[in-house]
Amino acid sequence: MANVAADAGNNGITRREFLYYVWGASIALVAAQSAGMLVWFLIPKFREGEFGGTFTLPVDEVPDINVPPAGYAEGRFWISNLDTEQANDVMYPSDQDTLPIKGVAAIYKVCTHLGCIYTWVEANDRFECPCHGSKYRLDGRRIESPAPRDLDRFKVSALADDKITVLAESAISEENGTFLPLDLPAGTAFVQVDTGAKKLGNSTPLLCSYAGNCP
Ligand code: FES
Repeated sequence: MANVAADAGNNGITRREFLYYVWGASIALVAAQSAGMLVWFLIPKFREGEFGGTFTLPVDEVPDINVPPAGYAEGRFWISNLDTEQANDVMYPSDQDTLPIKGVAAIYKVCTHLGCIYTWVEANDRFECPCHGSKYRLDGRRIESPAPRDLDRFKVSALADDKITVLAESAISEENGTFLPLDLPAGTAFVQVDTGAKKLGNSTPLLCSYAGNCP
């Protein structure tokens, strides 16, 4: 360092000036690193159509009201279209629910017990987990344990035909913090599911009215 400073002095730069240059270069390097980190954080980590990112579906792909759900393997979710005011054997009102339950829900395909992949069993009109027997209604409400809570949900947005304008998006329940089903407004052309935005299912009691075993 002494030699460098001495050489710098011989070339007409004082030792003090040389240290200023070194200090300035260090500051510039730290600033460049910080800017690089900021850009890295701002770049989306997940792309459209990839789990962790968004999935945009034509509204025609949303199932009719209170019929079996549509499954999307890449996004690991089910789409259910719910309306307790048009009750049937698949989706029915219960005095254990906060009613009405109405709109489109995107339900995570992983069981809330130990993470198995459950399926929709059409013969029984419900989701059933093959691992330890947990069962859930079309909206993801827990019917039989050992699952500790209802199925988790992703955020749903209703988009106009430009695929950009957001007409409405899932509200969050004040009661328990999960995403409520989204009642699609007029003009909805696409439904977007954000698999990077998940809320845990409710820890509500088992839906005893389903099995007719209420106390
Ligand atoms: S993982 Fe589904 S019931 Fe255990």
